[in-house]
Amino acid sequence: MQNLKNQAISSILETKNEQELEELRIEYLGRRGQVTKLIKKIPSLSPEQRKDKGNLINETKKIIEEAIISQKKNLQHQNGGGKENWFDITIPGEKPAKGHLHLITNAIEEISDIFKRIGFHSISYPEVEWDWYAFEGLNMPENHPARDEWETFFVENLKHPKYGQAVLTPHTSSGQLREMQRLGKPPIRMLDIAKCYRRQIDTSHAPMFYQFEGLVIDQGVNITHLKGTLDFFVKQYFGPQRKVRIRPFHFQFTEPSFEVDISCIVCGGRGCKVCKQGWMELGGAGMVHPTVLKNGGLDPKKYTGFAFGWGVERVLMMKYKIDDIRLLFSSDLRFLKQF
Ligand code: DAH
Repeated sequence: MQNLKNQAISSILETKNEQELEELRIEYLGRRGQVTKLIKKIPSLSPEQRKDKGNLINETKKIIEEAIISQKKNLQHQNGGGKENWFDITIPGEKPAKGHLHLITNAIEEISDIFKRIGFHSISYPEVEWDWYAFEGLNMPENHPARDEWETFFVENLKHPKYGQAVLTPHTSSGQLREMQRLGKPPIRMLDIAKCYRRQIDTSHAPMFYQFEGLVIDQGVNITHLKGTLDFFVKQYFGPQRKVRIRPFHFQFTEPSFEVDISCIVCGGRGCKVCKQGWMELGGAGMVHPTVLKNGGLDPKKYTGFAFGWGVERVLMMKYKIDDIRLLFSSDLRFLKQF
């Protein structure tokens, strides 16, 4: 009996397909199978034998049945399942959701790319800055009222013996002096993109935001170079139909100074609810003030330059017509997925 059981189990385990397995089932458990024959003999055994042998035979039958069921499952699994479990491996899989870079990151890349094409070198100057770079060296001495506009965060108990109090940089114009010091002499073509901080919050101002600052210094640089550069950027970034204009303004670190406007994205310049008179304000610009050149270690009699500084979020919001800056920092996927 033991032999019969062992032999049956090893042949069951060796089967390679369901056909072979079925043949074995018939051989052992079929109507004329080896085990069935033994079962049929049970009634003819003597009463003493009947109990023990009968039990043994039934036990053997059960074990063989279980071995067949388990081998059947194994075979189905190896062959990719039975008909009811059939799985088409050529069906395209479900792709895991894929994210993308944040739209501010994308805008920074796009802006850097545009200026790179006309020879600007990209750099990021510090977010924690000394007073001299942020104000004093830019022609805004201590207690000058112009400083009020920059709504500055001060870093307590941190002072440089020469460059003064530490602040969170309120604008990238601080990068102008750093770039002049770094290079020592023109030509300078800098694009400084960095985080800035101010005590402000409403639909178009955040306490932390990005600015990009252009600075070009060389011999004979004049306003037409500034105008050409602005025009190039605006047409590349906002589209070929956009026009630029510069309007007189005042900044301490440029002379003359301008406010730069572009023709309205919504109405194309005819005048609408958003722009009122056809123009939207982009940011500041101007010819670098002689005092600033001097502070940067350059001779204002020999060199001239232009500069401009605008908000990354601001140009981005204008391009995509986003009406609340806080959306850009909210991490709300319903908003971010649209880009
Ligand atoms: N730094 C100024 C601001 O944050 C913007 C600015 C104005 C930058 C005129 C310039 C410039 O380079 O020439 O408001």
